[in-house]
Amino acid sequence: MKAALDWQVAMGVDEAIADAPIDRYVLEAPAPKAMPVQATGVVEPIKVDAVAAAKTSATAAGDLDALRAAMEAFSHCELKRGARQLVFADGKPNARVMIVGEAPGRDEDLQGKPFVGRAGRLLDLMFSNIGLSRDASDADTALYITNVLPWRPPQNRDPAPEEIAMMLPFLARHIELAKPELIVAMGNHSCQALIGRRGITRLRGSWVEAFGVPVLPMFHPAYLLRTPVAKREAWADLLTLQAKLRTI
Ligand code: URA
Repeated sequence: MKAALDWQVAMGVDEAIADAPIDRYVLEAPAPKAMPVQATGVVEPIKVDAVAAAKTSATAAGDLDALRAAMEAFSHCELKRGARQLVFADGKPNARVMIVGEAPGRDEDLQGKPFVGRAGRLLDLMFSNIGLSRDASDADTALYITNVLPWRPPQNRDPAPEEIAMMLPFLARHIELAKPELIVAMGNHSCQALIGRRGITRLRGSWVEAFGVPVLPMFHPAYLLRTPVAKREAWADLLTLQAKLRTI
């Protein structure tokens, strides 16, 4: 027993998620794949185009509740199996500003809400300095917060490009349904998903566009926790956002 535990720790397991083991192969066995017999007699599984499936599912969602349900039901992303729950969004869907982060971490996976750990507390503090909050009730001062990926990657690893591509149709529809006036893209992975570019140090602070909405790339708050000297640039970006909100 101890040897099994030591092995899991060596493999990177850093937390127990339940008292008893869960056999996910039994719980969430994927639907059996159709096995067409080709003319050659070779039997091959049909490959599912996960991006096309995501597009179809996202497009069919008529409102945010339907989108959340569609994402809950989406079974092509492996991250879902390792996560506790879907992390959809927090704040007010009618907010003028939508924040797009990268992916849930441990705290977000536990609570089912984006940006609720240390980085989230810094994010709240940053935006409160320009009068914006996820708890505000009116659209002018509210925030709406989501992530590129709705499930926690194992050990908080970076999102893989295929995972971003697979979940992008849901993010696009999320933006279409929430209709923010402005988007803040937090960090490189968010920029990669929204504008197809990385290099946050050069991108930050200048407006770009995604899905017809102005986007302001900013340093991710987790980066600011590690690199406090970069808070100066983050403050400049917050003032850029505030100025834009006053002029549109
Ligand atoms: N980092 C993110 O990008 N999103 C979260 O929800 C939490 C941490």
